[in-house]
Amino acid sequence: NNEEYILGIETSCDETAASIVKNGTEIVSNVVASQIESHKRFGGVVPEVASRHHVEQITMVLEETFEKAGMTVEDMDAIAVTEGPGLVGALLVGVNTAKALAFAKRKPLIGVHHIAGHIYANRLIQEFQFPLLALVVSGGHTELILMREHGSFEVIGETRDDAAGEAYDKVARTLKLPYPGGPQMDQLAAEGAANINFPRAWLEAGSYDFSFSGLKSSVLNTLHNAAQRNEQLKKEDIAASFQASVVEVLADKTYRAANEFGVKQVIVAGGVAANKGLRAELNRRFSNGSQDLLIPPLALCTDNAAMIAVAGSIAFQQGHRAGWDLNANPSLDL
Ligand code: KG4
Ligand code: ZN
Repeated sequence: NNEEYILGIETSCDETAASIVKNGTEIVSNVVASQIESHKRFGGVVPEVASRHHVEQITMVLEETFEKAGMTVEDMDAIAVTEGPGLVGALLVGVNTAKALAFAKRKPLIGVHHIAGHIYANRLIQEFQFPLLALVVSGGHTELILMREHGSFEVIGETRDDAAGEAYDKVARTLKLPYPGGPQMDQLAAEGAANINFPRAWLEAGSYDFSFSGLKSSVLNTLHNAAQRNEQLKKEDIAASFQASVVEVLADKTYRAANEFGVKQVIVAGGVAANKGLRAELNRRFSNGSQDLLIPPLALCTDNAAMIAVAGSIAFQQGHRAGWDLNANPSLDL
């Protein structure tokens, strides 16, 4: 028969996730166990805590994934797993689980790059048209990636310091907002006014690289100076002004790259793709319809295993297979 079922497994950071995807485009089941509550009191992800949680959760997550689909491992055509980048101890749980299942049931094993997964989340919404440009914005990544065909990734710009999500989380922390700060900042920004002129890091003319550490320092200085003058700044206004700076640079560079490379589609991926300000600004820039703008629904923006199964399906179709020496690679290149 010509139906293909791929099991995806994702454990690179703080979500233990498994999913079954049919024919590379259709979710059969998709289970995500988040550890956010456990990391909240530390104000960030604690690697050892994350690994332990993955070990505790992975079996239940897999059972639920198969149960919801009414399927077993026997029904899978291949098993795809995130091999990197991410936290090494966290990745190891997924990689070893996938290897054990694949070995026991004699199934093909496929290693997936986490960012390829984020990009391929969009294929659950619409088929890709090349060339396409992907803006990947997450807690660990800020990259503009040009794809001329399936499985080919050309990084045309990336952050030189903090990732966009990391900047959100760090600024949120100085505003004493609970972890993870991105969604909280997004919420506050909607209630505030962008009345503080924080810097925009355009870098050299024509560069598609990003930098967010200067912005972060500028927010800290502004808060510090206000405190010294006994002045109360509204958190909402800080959030709105910070967000205006981040969104303007992200949207502008994405728009310029989309035109320079004449792409047919623009794809937004990663946790920060959930940001309401970014979504609105990108929608505005691409509203003339020259390029299709694809932004996945919120649940597919943050870490999940359906995206890993979709990227795994493409790799499977292209004949890629991992050996039994597949290993977690915390700094895997795309
Ligand atoms: O892709 P993701 O779930 O995990 C990584 O691979 O990093 O992204 C998580 C990041 C966090 O930094 C979080 O604060 C940020 O995405 N984030 C947001 C929003 N939702 C999640 N940042 C800004 N606005 C949001 N609405
Ligand atoms: Zn991610």
